[in-house]
Amino acid sequence: MTDTRENWSARSGFIIAAIGSAVGLGNIWRFPYVAYENGGGAFLIPYLIALLTAGLPLLFLDYAVGHRSNGSPPKAYQRLMKKAETLGWWQVCVCLIIGLYYAGVLTWAGSYVYFSIGQMWGSDPEAFFFNQYLKTSSATGFDMTFVSHLFWPLVAVWAGVLFILYGGVKKGVELSNKIFMPLLIVLFSVLVIQALRLPGAVDGLNAFFTPNWTAMMDYKVWLAAYGHIFFSLSVGFGIMVTYASYLKPKTNLTGSGLIVGFANSSFEILAGIGVFAALGFMAHSAGSTVEEVVSGGIGLAFIAFPKLISSLGAGADLFGILFFTSLFVAGITSMVSILEVPIAALQDKLKWSRKKAVSAVGGGTGIVSIFLFSTTNAIKLVDIIDHFINNIGIVTGALISIIMVSWFKRSIMNELKLHINGISTIQLGRTWELTLTIITPVVLLSTLLLSVYALLTKGYGDYSFGLQMWFGWGSVIFCVLGATLFSRLKDR
Ligand code: ALA
Repeated sequence: MTDTRENWSARSGFIIAAIGSAVGLGNIWRFPYVAYENGGGAFLIPYLIALLTAGLPLLFLDYAVGHRSNGSPPKAYQRLMKKAETLGWWQVCVCLIIGLYYAGVLTWAGSYVYFSIGQMWGSDPEAFFFNQYLKTSSATGFDMTFVSHLFWPLVAVWAGVLFILYGGVKKGVELSNKIFMPLLIVLFSVLVIQALRLPGAVDGLNAFFTPNWTAMMDYKVWLAAYGHIFFSLSVGFGIMVTYASYLKPKTNLTGSGLIVGFANSSFEILAGIGVFAALGFMAHSAGSTVEEVVSGGIGLAFIAFPKLISSLGAGADLFGILFFTSLFVAGITSMVSILEVPIAALQDKLKWSRKKAVSAVGGGTGIVSIFLFSTTNAIKLVDIIDHFINNIGIVTGALISIIMVSWFKRSIMNELKLHINGISTIQLGRTWELTLTIITPVVLLSTLLLSVYALLTKGYGDYSFGLQMWFGWGSVIFCVLGATLFSRLKDR
């Protein structure tokens, strides 16, 4: 049995859900540490350039594809070009992989709300995070011992997300966003204002906003910026295609896209301001510089913030609860959008009911996720999979979708442009076409080749060859196989 295709109740419902999808762990957890690792302030300029030359043009393309074809990525691309169904399944597989570790980080955020009460991380938040909480294995290779206190919260996160998804587009996805997004805005605004009032905050902001021109000569900073922008805006891996497919026929697409893009980047920069202000405060308290005060990397939000919270004295509990609840709330709405892609794809392809599709995706991905991320290797797997899937998985999907419409079959691009312009206030013209035909594909192709070259020659981080092969390249191979196999299935 199939459900009839659902719609958002109104354009505002779509905009809130699209912002809910875009604003997520990427903004609060990922952006500050990626920025930190890539020269702090130096990162802001490549980030903004990546937003304008790739993020927004692709956001409009995703909207046009989803809305015009009225389907999840495999259906939508297939309707534009028969063979392109494989591209849609590639994006579905990317979402399945992201869903695996996204739930893991979400669980850490949820647990840290609780740890904030009385600052349970004690005097050494770094040791607490890696050793006591994650029980990170010191072995370089596979040591996947089960950690029970990671297991149950992870099960709870999966249960909560699936509960929302069972509710459907209107009563599940849209309703949850209407509750969580205003909450997030209030929580996060209070948090950033508090952070800015701390002594030394201005030093942190200087570190964040001062462009470091030398770092900008490093191509890796550019790779990181382009790798991040798609994840952050939720473009290039099927989410916006799927969300736009639930829109009613006459909807202002470009206007909505600009609101979503602007909201996402504002939130991201706000998160950067909050985190760097906090780092400034810590440097001030320790009498050192922002660079020396904390080790960067994937644990930044879970180490820097607890350190800061502990040093606050009065109000520390509240500050901690605010921060980690924001992180959790932002992540839930994005996690919902990530899983909506495979769910919609199964519904479209196999004409499954919503319940069946949610159960299949939740059952499959949920079990693997719970199995992998309640082990002593959790943080290593997050780091490896996140790197490979962002720099190869998302970028490849985005690149192929762009090349398809701008190089192979230009008639599709014209068709999509006419479609968008027929219903939107802001018209797409030559700039959009030129960007998608020249700038975006050239930049993406170069970043992809450079990333693959770097991974093949130097590998990623100091992780063992086995871990990188199984989980890094394994994720990419999963997408290749999944895309090939699913696109061969017969439509029901
Ligand atoms: N766009 C989502 C995020 O930033 C996936 O976390």
